[in-house]
Amino acid sequence: MEDFEGRKTILELEDVSVTFPNGMRALKPSSLKFYRGEFAVLLGPSGSGKSTLLRCLNLLQEPTTGRVSSPWISGPASESSARGHRRRIGMVFRQHQLVLSMTALDNVMAGMAGSCGLFRAMFPSDAMRIEALECLDRVGLAGKAMNRASELSGGEQQRVGIARALAQKPDAILADEPVASLDPARASRLMGLFKKICGDSGITAVVSLHQVSLAREFADRIVGLRAGEIVFDAPASELDDSAVLEIYADSAALSGGGSGARRPPAAPHEAREREPAGTF
Ligand SMILES: Nc1ncnc2c1ncn2[C@@H]1O[C@H](COP(=O)(O)OP(=O)(O)OP(=O)(O)O)[C@@H](O)[C@H]1O
Ligand SMILES: [Mg+2]
Repeated sequence: MEDFEGRKTILELEDVSVTFPNGMRALKPSSLKFYRGEFAVLLGPSGSGKSTLLRCLNLLQEPTTGRVSSPWISGPASESSARGHRRRIGMVFRQHQLVLSMTALDNVMAGMAGSCGLFRAMFPSDAMRIEALECLDRVGLAGKAMNRASELSGGEQQRVGIARALAQKPDAILADEPVASLDPARASRLMGLFKKICGDSGITAVVSLHQVSLAREFADRIVGLRAGEIVFDAPASELDDSAVLEIYADSAALSGGGSGARRPPAAPHEAREREPAGTF
């Protein structure tokens, strides 16, 4: 799947929409392609459909209409085709979803279960341990491999989450607000690290964020969502203030800026960050 510029499509949504059983239309019919090696950021107010779109890309959410495709989905939709697709795609979540009682290393090895099977992941070989350790090393955490996840800071836990996704040797990583719980300095460092790792390994990344400034700093491409609709899709350099206002139009109105100039609501979103300052 190559476009006219020779870019290889790695994930594609064709007219995908999602309406939940309660009638909530989380995603209006949307068509999007993500290309090999690009670092794309999804921006949009709360409830605009970012997580729903990411879940569709990983086939965790079945579209109500339309089709998700990738080089690993062959033939009609089936559970085995979905498994093959998910094996190539790592997920990083906002609540990192680690087993807190397990060591960082064991958490990373759990990420290998998709490719090597649950049994192998439970009884790993030395080679698998070394591989997991290398993944922790890439995120700067080899020294804490034997610490329980509960003993790590939020930023460190998030890095273990990234190492776990890397252990899967993915072609793409979908990250849902991977820096939501970090202070601005750590969030920026983690995004820089994440982008470098993806760039070094040719991994395609689709990352949802609430921080406009981070999106501008790190994204190759920004996709803006508003009320389940794609209202912006362009290189990050084209995200000017009027585009930000377009994406956040509803939330700007809700935040009551009634008079005077309307400012992009970047700052209130960035106020969600909470972790005390520290090393990462
Ligand atoms: N399982 C569900 N059933 C019904 N409605 C849902 C379900 N999951 C999400 N929604 C609704 O779909 C809309 C989009 O949700 P989604 O989680 O994709 O938004 P989001 O952009 O990720 O928001 P946030 O920035 O707060 O994480 C929201 O209105 C949400 O309440
Ligand atoms: Mg979300």
